[in-house]
Amino acid sequence: MPSLLLLAGDGIGPEITDATKRVIEHFNTAGAGFELVEGLVGGAAYDAVGTPFPEETLQKAEATDAILFAAVGGPQYDHLAYDERPEAGLLGLRKHFDLFANIRPAIVYPALADASSLKREVVEGLDIIILRELTGGVYFGEPKTIEDIGNGQKRAVDTQVYDTFEIERIARAAFDLARARRGKVTSMEKRNVMKTGVLWREVVEATHRQGYEDVALDHMLADAGAMQLVRDPKQFDVVVTDNLFGDMLSDVAAQLTGSLGMLPSASLGAVDERTGRRRAMYEPVHGSAPDIAGRGIANPIAMIASFGMALQYSFAMLDEARALDAAIAAALEDGVRTADIAAGGPSVDTKGMTDAILAHLQRAA
Ligand code: IPM
Ligand code: MG
Repeated sequence: MPSLLLLAGDGIGPEITDATKRVIEHFNTAGAGFELVEGLVGGAAYDAVGTPFPEETLQKAEATDAILFAAVGGPQYDHLAYDERPEAGLLGLRKHFDLFANIRPAIVYPALADASSLKREVVEGLDIIILRELTGGVYFGEPKTIEDIGNGQKRAVDTQVYDTFEIERIARAAFDLARARRGKVTSMEKRNVMKTGVLWREVVEATHRQGYEDVALDHMLADAGAMQLVRDPKQFDVVVTDNLFGDMLSDVAAQLTGSLGMLPSASLGAVDERTGRRRAMYEPVHGSAPDIAGRGIANPIAMIASFGMALQYSFAMLDEARALDAAIAAALEDGVRTADIAAGGPSVDTKGMTDAILAHLQRAA
């Protein structure tokens, strides 16, 4: 039986998780047989058991096929030490399962082309992927310290570090993705100032020569790439970049679509040679939105679409994944909007949006 670990976390996390459970139950009624396990992570876990990343959650994650993660964080946790903060739960899961390939699609649904802060013609029909390296770079590099250096001065150090194999495997993932799409990869780094950028480009090019020459490859400095992303985003297909640049560029890409509340993501590990399977975690790109938490008005689409990515990448249920995407698009076509994408017009709550998606799923089934 396929199994999923649901981690609701903080803020709007529990609300969008409940919405997504209803969608999963729809597929179960149709015979999918998903076994759902729930666990604690982030601030919710810290409040309950004193750590954002409990051992029990790790064991549950080991025992299930994939993780569906909602969101973590909130202002009430700002005073905590770095490794007690809610984000430590998220980073811990990424690192523990070596989920190095973070696929962040930025898709503009036709019905929402006017929700973007960019002109309709710039974003209409947009369908790109930011492929972010997720387990290396400055997020995890050592040393990572703040030390006292006397005279009332402190020194903070983060370390940006990449080994060849880390760049090579994310480059391969980029070429494989592009091959199934429009066949174009743009690699972004800062080789003009960073040694990791120099190695990044070298390894991406070497990997390209090893059997990927059918895919078009170009390179941009990450700052120029950010500018191109807002100037003419449709020039891209797959953008591959490191952990920190990917964090920023994926938020930029998200805004092209009009709402952070729309975008799902998949974080994948390597394919296990014995079982042919890969570890995976699916999560919305947006955060815990503490400002609207508890009011039942959050947009559940990013999390529901994250489940859709799980159908695609972890369970090879491609028809179901397509049906779910179509139901989301159809609900939007009908004019159903949560407040974040309503541009001041009439809006429904989390339940209303979920009802609309479920109605289209049921009609199609
Ligand atoms: C993201 C988030 C995380 C990150 C935070 C919550 C640690 O911004 O997934 O993009 O920086 O990776
Ligand atoms: Mg981010």
